[in-house]
Amino acid sequence: MELRDKFGRKITYLRLAITDRCNLRCQYCMPTQGIDIVDRKELLSYKEMYRITRVFSELGVNKVRLTGGEPFVRKDFVNFLESLSFNDKLDEINITTNGALISNHINKLEELKINAINLSIDSLQREKFAKITRRDVFVDVYNTLEKLERSNLKLKLNVVVQSGFNTDEIIDFIELSKNKDVAVRFIEEMPFNGKGQRDIKEEWNFEKIISHVKEHYLEVETLKDAESSTSRNFKIPNYKGTFGIIPAFTRTICNDCNRIRITATGMFKNCLFDGGVFNVRDFMRDGASDDELKQLFISTVHKKPKNGFIAEAARGNSVSESMSTIGG
Ligand code: 5AD
Ligand code: SF4
Repeated sequence: MELRDKFGRKITYLRLAITDRCNLRCQYCMPTQGIDIVDRKELLSYKEMYRITRVFSELGVNKVRLTGGEPFVRKDFVNFLESLSFNDKLDEINITTNGALISNHINKLEELKINAINLSIDSLQREKFAKITRRDVFVDVYNTLEKLERSNLKLKLNVVVQSGFNTDEIIDFIELSKNKDVAVRFIEEMPFNGKGQRDIKEEWNFEKIISHVKEHYLEVETLKDAESSTSRNFKIPNYKGTFGIIPAFTRTICNDCNRIRITATGMFKNCLFDGGVFNVRDFMRDGASDDELKQLFISTVHKKPKNGFIAEAARGNSVSESMSTIGG
């Protein structure tokens, strides 16, 4: 049994949101006061998340990314990672984190089967970082970055390109890859900020970002992308690390999409841009068997929209929830 949609795309990658809560308040993600978080009992329990992951892994999913909100704000997250790492059908367990709470856990993450950490860091300047995240934690996050870079975990940096805030740091971020073995990834800003108050003035899309970089460097090497990669990747010759651009909003990467999402409340999402198609939590709490779950996953994946534009059009309302609710 496998998960394949009607366009022939095979689903092998699950993005699972651990919580909708976050210790930061990034301006492109949330309003100042935060978002309305759900009642704790509405969140999937770790047991439920373990089961969902196990059932998916029996259907050919071999890669899981744990996201949020911020996964490390949920109590016992590291123990959950330990349980997940016993699932030998999983080839990769990755985590997306803002890094503010994790420096004490890095040794443990190295011991477990964690492959890569995607660290969100939108500025290399303390004050600007505080302005963007509305929390003064740059020092902790940068400390995490350095520790991760020295660890045996793969490190990717997620930089949301925000017109008028950090576009002047694009080159500084690439310069970080000169001596550090990191993959810097610039992400197009999406209008998902838990009510849409942020109106994006000047669009820094993929094309604009790459031409800005090419103006600065004499030579930019284009790398061969891994299959189903969300980023188009590049390298400055002789630099230790690489950089890439994620066309999150212009959505030119949907053709070989291999992923699905489960939000912190158990909503199955075939696409970042769809409205959520099925609540797996309720189905499980109503007593679904593993076989019933499998049938549900297979039939839901079959409805996966062709791309993010079609998904968005089909939802009937505009995308206004926060990435913290959607599951980054
Ligand atoms: N646009 C683009 N990226 C976003 N993220 C959160 N909100 C947005 C948005 N509106 C990113 C975070 C993090 C990942 C989970 O998603 O920076 O790296
Ligand atoms: Fe938290 Fe990530 Fe949203 Fe920032 S973008 S507030 S770190 S969930």
